Amino acid sequence: MKTSIIYNSYSGNTRGVAEKVQAACGGTLVEVKSKQYSSKLAVYTLGCYRAMKEMSDPIEPERIDVTSDDVIVIGTPIWAGKATPAVNAAIASLQGCAGKKAIIFATCGKEGKDALAILRTALGARGVTVAGEFVFDKDGMKDPARIDAMIAAVKTAGGSP
Ligand SMILES: Cc1cc2nc3c(=O)[nH]c(=O)nc-3n(C[C@H](O)[C@H](O)[C@H](O)COP(=O)(O)O)c2cc1C
Repeated sequence: MKTSIIYNSYSGNTRGVAEKVQAACGGTLVEVKSKQYSSKLAVYTLGCYRAMKEMSDPIEPERIDVTSDDVIVIGTPIWAGKATPAVNAAIASLQGCAGKKAIIFATCGKEGKDALAILRTALGARGVTVAGEFVFDKDGMKDPARIDAMIAAVKTAGGSP
């Protein structure tokens, strides 16, 4: 099974979940970094504003080619109730994604379901079908059963036993 595990992470939580998926499923970790913010203050002010407005940041890498993947995994932190502007940009930057399946996840302090619904719509507009959605709050991130459920969904979507 080939997979790209695409994620943005400001303080490491989303990276931690992405790394667990990679350890269990293999695949390529693709960390998407925003070029928009020069300080923590900018993240909490401009970052939240841009997330709330569902904007896209300039990112590195600029393009993510998933042509050879069987399934795509996309993870976002929640900022102001939404996906980060870096993840919005990552979805816009996908190459060769039409017809693919995705598993999407969010890490958050409290609540991230609404953000995932927005990502599902954005991915649908790129021809990607979301086969599973997972939200990890502070407790969920530490719960192996919750992580295992997502790993099982990635394997199923990727056609792996
Ligand atoms: C700028 C900013 C805004 C946040 N806004 C929310 C929010 O609206 N709701 C929520 O549940 N958590 C919010 N959080 C908490 C993060 O979503 C949570 O800690 C997440 O796991 C961080 O992921 P990361 O460590 O990969 O960056 C916010 C964190 C930051 C830095």
